[in-house]
Amino acid sequence: MKLWGGRFTKEENQLVHNFNESLSFDRRLYRQDIEGSIAHVTMLEKQGVVSREDRDAIIGGLRGILADIESGKLEFTAEHEDIHSFVEANLIERIGEAGKRLHTGRSRNDQVALDMKLYCRDEIGELDSLVKELLRTLLRLMEENLDTYMPGFTHLQKAQPVTLAHHLGAYFEMFERDRGRLHDIRRRMNTCPLGAGALAGTTYPLDRGYSAALLGFDGPTFNSMDSVADRDYVIELLSALSTIAMHLSRFSEEIIIWNSNEYQFVELDDAYSTGSSIMPQKKNPDIAELVRGKTGRVYGALVAILTTMKGLPLAYNKDMQEDKELTFDAIDTVKDCLALFTGMISTMTFHKDVMEASAKNGFTNATDAADYLVNHGVPFRDAHGIVGQLVLHCLEKGIALDDMALEEFQAVSPVFEEDIYEAISMKACVKRRMTLGAPGQAAMKQVIEACRSRLEA
Ligand code: ARG
Repeated sequence: MKLWGGRFTKEENQLVHNFNESLSFDRRLYRQDIEGSIAHVTMLEKQGVVSREDRDAIIGGLRGILADIESGKLEFTAEHEDIHSFVEANLIERIGEAGKRLHTGRSRNDQVALDMKLYCRDEIGELDSLVKELLRTLLRLMEENLDTYMPGFTHLQKAQPVTLAHHLGAYFEMFERDRGRLHDIRRRMNTCPLGAGALAGTTYPLDRGYSAALLGFDGPTFNSMDSVADRDYVIELLSALSTIAMHLSRFSEEIIIWNSNEYQFVELDDAYSTGSSIMPQKKNPDIAELVRGKTGRVYGALVAILTTMKGLPLAYNKDMQEDKELTFDAIDTVKDCLALFTGMISTMTFHKDVMEASAKNGFTNATDAADYLVNHGVPFRDAHGIVGQLVLHCLEKGIALDDMALEEFQAVSPVFEEDIYEAISMKACVKRRMTLGAPGQAAMKQVIEACRSRLEA
């Protein structure tokens, strides 16, 4: 039986039912749906629209439904169209007449808008904790690796020496912005659509501010058409999730490179690696690859909902039911990725000696050699040319700048003195980079302090 069966003369065709229904996926909104209904009926009673007895019967019935769903006693049966119809039909079955009064002054249009907001708001809380956990892990690794030298890259070519702390610090910044985006979305979306009705409000004397407050919103929404037609918060959330996925994917890509046989900067823990069915020697970074790979479906969700919304006239249209599966999937996916990724990096071994050797062997101190000349009065452009010649010389001999004899330096420029070795040593190169945001230990310590206080604020 349909909620809206009154004006219809034919039974719904099974194919139509299957195509139209959403209970198979919006069932996961049951908690939010019941929470919203309890607030609605509490407000209706306060306004004198339903009696105290009916309110109590309705709330009792709704709590019973919640308990029975959670204990598995009440199953979602396919004849119901969506979670809203399911709960209402069940309520009527349980408490009779009073149950029929719940939907007074309400439509499934404002109901679903409310449920979806409550769901997104709850999930933002969980996503925020997961990102925070990742940030804590990064901060710990940063503190432990202030003196772990490694090459910094541009174009995936060795560029200048940095530290692992500094490299990880870059990701700290990214994930911190991600958290900020989640907070922004939560703040902007926190208005309550309940009471917007189908699209044009209602003639009952609802106190929308009251139900909004009961549900933890900052207040009610201000336009009833927008209230039921708005999915901006879904789009913003999927956009923030896409950015998180993109950051996780870039980081995964680096870990895959670092974990490769050629680099060996890191070794993933066995628990986060998998073997090959044919090649006995293999230990593959499947988890990092999957985190990278799942980015596609998260972006897909964002593009799908943007496309669904772009042609919709006001106010509610059934197209909007398409927001659910993709939002649920993107949230689940990103939550899994965050949790696994944090586990993966906290159990991974860093081969610090290999990282340091790699930084030494790639002329990452060439800029510092040029800076040495500049500090001795040579114009930077000339210094760049001189060091370029030295690099060429080293490449021919297969050695590093540090391995050259002083005479070899002086053959290209007489400005070089014995102290050039100290000036281009890895430790000195990093230590001298002490501008705020640079890898030098003094600067990094200051940044880590600031990161910690922002994180725990
Ligand atoms: N299942 C619907 C959705 O997710 C609920 C709202 C239905 N409203 C309606 N008038 N058909 O959008």
